[in-house]
Amino acid sequence: MQPSDKALVPFVSVNNMMRLIHHIGVERMIIEIAAQIEDDFKRWESFDKTPRIPAHSPHGVIELMPTSDGEAYGFKYVNGHPKNTSEGLQTVTAFGLLADVYTGYPTLLTEMTMLTALRTAATSALVGKYLAPKNASTMAMIGNGAQSEFQCLAFKAMCGIDTVRLYDIDPAATAKCAANLQGTGLKVVSCRSAEEAIEGAQIITTCTADKKYATILTDNMVGPGVHINAIGGDCPGKTELHRDILLRSDIFVEYPEQTRIEGEIQALDPDHPVTEMWQVITGQAEGRRDDRQITLFDSVGFAIEDFSALRYVKRAIEGTEFFEPLDMLADPDDPRDLFGMLMRAR
Ligand SMILES: NC(=O)c1ccc[n+]([C@@H]2O[C@H](COP(=O)([O-])OP(=O)(O)OC[C@H]3O[C@@H](n4cnc5c(N)ncnc54)[C@H](O)[C@@H]3O)[C@@H](O)[C@H]2O)c1
Repeated sequence: MQPSDKALVPFVSVNNMMRLIHHIGVERMIIEIAAQIEDDFKRWESFDKTPRIPAHSPHGVIELMPTSDGEAYGFKYVNGHPKNTSEGLQTVTAFGLLADVYTGYPTLLTEMTMLTALRTAATSALVGKYLAPKNASTMAMIGNGAQSEFQCLAFKAMCGIDTVRLYDIDPAATAKCAANLQGTGLKVVSCRSAEEAIEGAQIITTCTADKKYATILTDNMVGPGVHINAIGGDCPGKTELHRDILLRSDIFVEYPEQTRIEGEIQALDPDHPVTEMWQVITGQAEGRRDDRQITLFDSVGFAIEDFSALRYVKRAIEGTEFFEPLDMLADPDDPRDLFGMLMRAR
């Protein structure tokens, strides 16, 4: 017997996600996901929100990130294991699911390792659009791992960056990133220190992975007027910036309840003032005030961004070949005859 339509869940494999991204184009897809995130941040109050649910171990963290707007429900499974790259594995892998709140039936299952890189870059550049200095042209990219090229391309596509200055403690990572960015239209400068990378940069992105309170930037390195896009500090005990930088910056966050646990601001008092990005996007709070202000996006990654990306993918695959129907739900013709369905399958 064939399962009913609702029982067949569209599944986007890694291979199909890569085909979809090439079909749309990396930069265009980042821009379109950013637009979806911006729309969803504008209706922030209509979402269920909770800090993500972590399972910490000495090896890393595994997290669930749920949210719902009352019509659709989504979650992402994601891990963070900085030690993985030394074993030939990814630091971050992810998959996610959308469901229909009315029936509770899933409507999409998809890989999200690629999609997370796109949505993180989309979020960073969206925030950069609001906070980075006008006419910014150069970005320092510190940490040249899996997320880095996506970050560079997002800031090129959405914030007008034409030069990136790369630095990683591992020169092989910088060489990989520089090679991957060849032919993208970005001028790429490989640097030997974080100090060298930030020379002349109006935007500084930190995207490193280490399970500790790291100090990628110290206070004396950060001049007035820059925008810092801090991606890598996203777990208790895992930060990138010296506390003094935080004290000189205006700090912008996704969802304070989660960022205070996971972000750079875990180093500050629990009532240290921060501005929520959805309020900047809706015009209820001020973004960049002047040329000398240091703006800091203390990014940790929030469930609504994944929800936006999931809904984007669900629409994007409609009528295409970039998914396969997955026989994922047992859905007997007589809803109460689950046992009969099992017996008929003998
Ligand atoms: N905020 C978000 O939404 C979000 C989303 C995805 C990933 N992340 C985080 O971003 C970070 C990077 O992720 P990734 O997938 O690119 O990881 P990755 O392991 O592929 O790359 C991290 C890079 O950082 C480098 N690095 C480590 N310590 C450094 C230092 N002191 N100075 C310079 N470089 C250093 C490593 O050599 C490596 O090349 C991780 O910490 C991850 O948890 C955040």
